[in-house]
Amino acid sequence: MSTVLSPVGVFDSGLGGLTVVRAMMDLLPEQPLIYFGDTGRFPYGPKPAHEVLKYSLQITDLLIERGASMIVVACNSATAAALEQIQERVDVPVIGVIDPGVRSALKATESGRVGVVGTVGTIRSGAYQRAGSRIAPDLDLVCAACPGFVEFVESGEIDSDQVYVLAERLLAPIVQARVDTLVLGCTHYPLLARTITDVVGRDVVLVSSAEETAFEVRTHLQQQSAVAPSGPRMARASAPRHTFLTSGDTQLFQTLGERFCGPEVALVEAWQW
Ligand code: DGL
Repeated sequence: MSTVLSPVGVFDSGLGGLTVVRAMMDLLPEQPLIYFGDTGRFPYGPKPAHEVLKYSLQITDLLIERGASMIVVACNSATAAALEQIQERVDVPVIGVIDPGVRSALKATESGRVGVVGTVGTIRSGAYQRAGSRIAPDLDLVCAACPGFVEFVESGEIDSDQVYVLAERLLAPIVQARVDTLVLGCTHYPLLARTITDVVGRDVVLVSSAEETAFEVRTHLQQQSAVAPSGPRMARASAPRHTFLTSGDTQLFQTLGERFCGPEVALVEAWQW
């Protein structure tokens, strides 16, 4: 008989956090998740930090009410604007995606010259530079904001000519800086990885925080001794039930979510603020 595990709560402004969800599902196949995509209020990147903070706290409260035993802020903009306040607000572990992104870059780089791309809010906040000087002071970080990328992902347009033209313009400072590693400092950007690679060159290693964040979640679950065994699926009678909520269009979320993340994004609940 299978034990019922409390879900891990995950949120983002929209679909981007599903890149982190995918990594968590792969690493922790027995762990139920509850995901909130704030598609009705996206994008967070251009919004002032106090507004992103307010939304992040609202979503955190909702996930806790729904029984989340941990919160994963699967959004760099929300991590930059709200991580510490969320940690102060709730009694469960709260994990952001910026530190894991820096750790992934540190593992990948040989030259120590690393690019970071993110939303205007994330880059302007200086959160990556602060995490860099704390975790890896020798890294030389070159940061660039990429306004517009998130909107393309949310509309499902991930490899059009328009995305390519925008990427060429926005990534020019990264190309000029001759980095050997590029942190995708927005959870939407892994969905644009092919276009980004075409622009920056195949010798630049793209890293996202998804895998590293999933490992951090596993460590916390083990500490809570509520970890779902990552052994064979047959150890459990049925696959875990994941819950997906969106404040936007449920049909679009389901269609794109399934395409970007997998068949697990089957049932999407509507949420209205
Ligand atoms: N995916 C988010 C991030 O990692 C948010 C993007 C947005 O809403 O602008 O920053």
